[in-house]
Amino acid sequence: MQTFRRFRYEKSDELPSKFGDDVRTPESFVAEFVEEFSEEGDTVIDPFAGFGTTLKVAEEFGRIPYGIEYEAERVAYIEDRIEHAENIVRGSALELASYDLPTFDLCLTSPPYMAEEDTRNPFRNYAGKSRYDEYLENVGDAFSQLAEFMATDSHVLVDVSNLKNEGNVTTLAWDAVDVLSSTFRFEGEVVVAWEGAESTDGTGAYGYGYDHNYCLVFRNEK
Ligand SMILES: C[S@@+](CC[C@H](N)C(=O)[O-])C[C@H]1O[C@@H](n2cnc3c(N)ncnc32)[C@H](O)[C@@H]1O
Repeated sequence: MQTFRRFRYEKSDELPSKFGDDVRTPESFVAEFVEEFSEEGDTVIDPFAGFGTTLKVAEEFGRIPYGIEYEAERVAYIEDRIEHAENIVRGSALELASYDLPTFDLCLTSPPYMAEEDTRNPFRNYAGKSRYDEYLENVGDAFSQLAEFMATDSHVLVDVSNLKNEGNVTTLAWDAVDVLSSTFRFEGEVVVAWEGAESTDGTGAYGYGYDHNYCLVFRNEK
């Protein structure tokens, strides 16, 4: 596995301005990992579907996409963009076990992020309160529920970054490896550099202090 890769930071369409910052994963990232880790006809789940990049690209590659997304407006946006609109659930990854879902051949996702110093709850889209340790527990809980739906030996790919705010570093990528390793076997990380997203103020493409992400590669051995 090549562990350092560059992707163009490009989106094929504009996100409507009502959604604010464009936190979507570039399609090039999804395309590469979907092709490498799944086959045509496979089921692909994104439990934090956002604006549906994973679902849309997976469908373009002949996979059957499924998604869960907390925000109703984002769900509506995805439903307009994919053919398998019936496969998107408006709900919470923390309630995954209660949904009627098939077995998945691949998970490719990017969970909502939280910095240590933040007090808002990412799993309610930053409404309500949380602490970083509670947030990590929620991350572990969501992925352990997901594991029940993953095919034996399938991969779970998690797009995540460390975060730097005013000098304080939250080692979210390392902490995610730690938390998810109690459910899946960690096979390693791919360092992802974003081309065409250089920032002049040093905050990186997404404004969280880094100009690279990690694609964490896990295998579901059960
Ligand atoms: C980092 S974004 C994913 C972006 C996505 N990869 C894309 O390209 O659009 C994380 C998403 O998780 C959603 N989310 C937050 N809490 C959630 C929960 N409890 N269950 C499911 N989705 C949730 C947020 O609304 C947000 O859209």
